Amino acid sequence: MVSDEFSGMISTIRDQTSWNKTGFQFKMQRNGYCSKIPFAFLIVFSVLLMLLIVHQRSKTFEVNGGDAKINVLAGGGAAQTETPEVADSGNVSSQQVLDELFAPGHDKGSCLSRYESVVYRKPSSHKPSPCLLSKLRKYESLHKLCGPYTESYNKTLEQLKSGRNVSTTDCNYVVYTPLSGLGNRMLTIASAFLYALLTNRVLLVEFGSEIAGLFCEPFQQTTWLLPMDFPLRNQFDNFSQELSKLFPDEETVFHHLGRYLFQPSNEAWGLITRFYRAYLSKADERIGIQVRVFDTKVTPFQTVVDQILSCTIKEKLLPDVLETRSSATSLSKNQSLKAVLVTSLYSKYYEHLKGVYWTKPTVSGEVIGVYQPSHEEHELYGNNMHSMKAWTEIYLLSMSNALITSSCSTFGYVAQSLGGLKPWILYRPLNGTAPDPPCVRAMSMEPCFHFPPSHGCKAEVNVGHVKHCEDVEWGLKLVKDH
Ligand SMILES: *[C@@H]1O[C@H](CO)[C@@H](O)[C@H](O)[C@H]1NC(C)=O
Ligand SMILES: *[C@@H]1O[C@H](CO)[C@@H](O)[C@H](O)[C@H]1NC(C)=O
Ligand SMILES: *[C@@H]1O[C@H](CO)[C@@H](O)[C@H](O)[C@H]1NC(C)=O
Ligand SMILES: *[C@@H]1O[C@H](CO)[C@@H](O)[C@H](O)[C@H]1NC(C)=O
Ligand SMILES: *[C@@H]1O[C@H](CO)[C@@H](O)[C@H](O)[C@H]1NC(C)=O
Ligand SMILES: *[C@@H]1O[C@H](CO)[C@@H](O)[C@H](O)[C@H]1NC(C)=O
Repeated sequence: MVSDEFSGMISTIRDQTSWNKTGFQFKMQRNGYCSKIPFAFLIVFSVLLMLLIVHQRSKTFEVNGGDAKINVLAGGGAAQTETPEVADSGNVSSQQVLDELFAPGHDKGSCLSRYESVVYRKPSSHKPSPCLLSKLRKYESLHKLCGPYTESYNKTLEQLKSGRNVSTTDCNYVVYTPLSGLGNRMLTIASAFLYALLTNRVLLVEFGSEIAGLFCEPFQQTTWLLPMDFPLRNQFDNFSQELSKLFPDEETVFHHLGRYLFQPSNEAWGLITRFYRAYLSKADERIGIQVRVFDTKVTPFQTVVDQILSCTIKEKLLPDVLETRSSATSLSKNQSLKAVLVTSLYSKYYEHLKGVYWTKPTVSGEVIGVYQPSHEEHELYGNNMHSMKAWTEIYLLSMSNALITSSCSTFGYVAQSLGGLKPWILYRPLNGTAPDPPCVRAMSMEPCFHFPPSHGCKAEVNVGHVKHCEDVEWGLKLVKDH
């Protein structure tokens, strides 16, 4: 989505786009594949592809003019909710547990998850590059200098309102107004942030009420929330090849940016940690299974559960069960406990898996507990509690030791990237029958971008660190360049 206009200094980015809709629908019909994927990802593509592939300056940004609906949240977002609930991490100093992505000095009480997440989720095994860290620190200063209601911001606003051309200042902005589901939003916000980093702009986001209060404020002493009175203009800039310096390991882009931007608010953190401590913390190993069935009418329930079990057993993620109900497994056999976290709009997959491991002993003697935090039955857009539960489940999945995800689901993509996990992806059942093999190990933990800006032939894009996805044949994802 690239505007041809170079007049203003404000870029507006939306993730809903009419870009090449006809091509998209054609593909959808021809493949009959992920039929309910919300539009998304053009930004991500554009940003990544423009930097990574040879076709820089491809005119694929559609920049949306001043028509965006602007809402604003109470400043500070989630920061004011709930008092600290999980105890302070004993004698571990705050700085010791703080992921090195973050600058020191954040107010701990307003965002407990930033300090406590390392207690629950294994620290990232991918070190952010020094270049990325210094870029983030520079960005934070810029955001503080240019953020809402600073002198520079007020000046820019005045100039924009008066209709004059804005003189060059140190403060340029990317305004992001997201739509569609939570997974999509998180992925596209992260890519808008990357665009802001690369172009030395300040990212201001509009959330809308349904995702109010899900995340902490990522930047200190300022806000990333778009003020109500912000006028919008178009611009596209070309930017330089900085990405490889920021992300020497190409498949950590969303991993690092996602971890940096999205910390659960205190309210979300309460939901996450209470569930974790009640059901998951005692297990020796945690397996996340994210079940997203796009066409429940034509995909038989049994096909889905058979496929899940055949994947988990074949890949040795879960043990098979004995076809006997009699034996009370000897205590000495194997004491280990595995917890399976199922997330789905429905409870039936969870019920079935729980039944399998409750009614029959496993061949290894291990005991398998199966849990599901919520089942909403319908995908609800525009509902805050629904988003809050979805965010909780994404985060819980990201705490797994191993992850199984469904094809085409942005929900799974976010969980895998935040968790630094390469999931096993369940192939989509075709014609109601379980595919063989049932699942495939992902090439990388990066999300798949469903709608690349170019329909170029496979040979053209299937190079270096951009590859077609395992689950969406026309989609693209970043993989490590070997
Ligand atoms: C504003 O900038 C545009 C593009 O550079 C130019 O065409 C236009 O004349 C300028 N307007 C004023 C009032 O300076
Ligand atoms: C605090 O220090 C004691 C003694 O050094 C240690 O045994 C304990 O595990 C520490 N607590 C935490 C939470 O690290
Ligand atoms: C910017 O404008 C807002 C309201 O319009 C005002 O409250 C604030 O003090 C201004 N900032 C500066 C630095 O003057
Ligand atoms: C824009 O891109 C072109 C070609 O890709 C490059 O030569 C030029 O230096 C870039 N301009 C800026 C301001 O980065
Ligand atoms: C129990 O089973 C797990 C998983 O198969 C295995 O890793 C572990 O070594 C086993 N423990 C014993 C005591 O056999
Ligand atoms: C799908 O299954 C139906 C009924 O089992 C069969 O008639 C049809 O040919 C199958 N279609 C494909 C593409 O395999």
